[in-house]
Amino acid sequence: MSPFSFYLFGVTGNLAQIKVIPALYDLFEKKLIPKGSHIIGVARKEMTPDQFRSFVWDILQTPNRHHTHPIRDEVWQEMCEHLSYQSGDFSDPKLYSTIKASLETHQIHNTIFYLATYPQLYESIFTNLKTAGLTNQDKGFTRLMLEKPIGIDLASAKRLNAQVSQYFEESQVYRLDHYLGKETLQNILTFRFGNGLLEHLFNHEFVDHIQITASEDYGIGRRGTYFDSVGMLKDVGQNHSLQMLTTVTMDAPKEFSNEAVTRERVKVLEKLLSDPEHVVFGQYEGYTGEEFVTKDSSQDTFFALRTTIDNERWQGVPIYIRAGKRLNQTCTEISLVFKNPINRLFSHLDSGNEPNILTFRIQPNEGIVFKFLSKVAGHDLKLEPQYMQFCYKYQGTDMPDAYENLISDVIKGDQTFFNDAVEVEAQWSFTDPLSAIRNRPIAYEQGSWGPQAAFELLQQDGREWLEPSLAMCAI
Ligand code: BG6
Repeated sequence: MSPFSFYLFGVTGNLAQIKVIPALYDLFEKKLIPKGSHIIGVARKEMTPDQFRSFVWDILQTPNRHHTHPIRDEVWQEMCEHLSYQSGDFSDPKLYSTIKASLETHQIHNTIFYLATYPQLYESIFTNLKTAGLTNQDKGFTRLMLEKPIGIDLASAKRLNAQVSQYFEESQVYRLDHYLGKETLQNILTFRFGNGLLEHLFNHEFVDHIQITASEDYGIGRRGTYFDSVGMLKDVGQNHSLQMLTTVTMDAPKEFSNEAVTRERVKVLEKLLSDPEHVVFGQYEGYTGEEFVTKDSSQDTFFALRTTIDNERWQGVPIYIRAGKRLNQTCTEISLVFKNPINRLFSHLDSGNEPNILTFRIQPNEGIVFKFLSKVAGHDLKLEPQYMQFCYKYQGTDMPDAYENLISDVIKGDQTFFNDAVEVEAQWSFTDPLSAIRNRPIAYEQGSWGPQAAFELLQQDGREWLEPSLAMCAI
């Protein structure tokens, strides 16, 4: 692997602190950052090299939901050798000529720019990079990482994509949605297309419906300014929920390549029906009292919706998606609920009609569980549900964080688990009609499962939400 310079714009911001810096540490720990590479934090604030190192050290010492393991001294020392800091105003051309001069001094020809900044700053950064000659790839690669959401609706996403394409080739752009970097999501492709057993059941003939839940028991923390400008459907629904949906419903890609996998995700999105009659928006009680949130905010902190895919495979199969903050528990999972065959032998018994369910648990207690009926041992004929499960924890797997996976992919130049412009626009085409009808969201109690209307969404179809069980893979 050739050395590179990794410029992290917005290094003092929330995203860099919570996700990117810990992921970089993990990459050092796994020896995935080649010798001679440079990791440069960029922000407006003045900091000496020592101050920057102690800033990074403090971040690594602060446990967060995504990074909990101890920091090893030898890895930290190794990381320090590669770390430096560049202060500057992102709109000032001087910053970019300094970067250019530094790259020339170090004779490094591969560059990654990670923009962990407000999207409003993107255009000025792109123009400055271009003017300073930092976007071309004469001697090595130049790659750009942009965080979701790309735009705040279809029109703004198109504008941003058009801007990006003035400065970069599509092959240089890595639009990052960290859900695509999650091991548990990527493993769905292996489960489905690496095995022969169950894939032929993934269709309307066998699947009654699909449920996707992403629930968080925490609120918006200090991210009020950002969150209150988008709400839950745009923050999570337009991207993370749809990545889960496409991964579990896509057709088999022709090969395991970026073009083929992305193409299949996009094909699903193009056939996904937006149904404004079947969407519920909620807001947790107390949300308007959160820091940096407007007092009369009508932003959604919860949504639940029903959709279907208008293709041969999934014709008529409802897909229910919900996501929300300050709900009953933190859990993300996708479940396929299978149809009962008409000739079920034990349908006359209590529980004889319980459906088989296949659950991909994205987090926590990551794994895959298949629920089936089994006979209770004994002389009476009684049935009970049992579970076959694969749990990452049983294997003692050290699960790489999504950001670690994705940064490593950018280093390798692999765009498979990133969104291209077409995909992002297809996602907005699905969510825009839903956002358009959003009125004042329904208030829901903190710690609940959201507004009653979300339950009714399924009840009217004779179904109910599955409550994620934290007993799954809990060891
Ligand atoms: C982020 C959203 O993209 O994803 C957050 O902005 C959300 O609001 C987070 O909490 C969820 O990510 P994870 O990996 O914790 O499920």
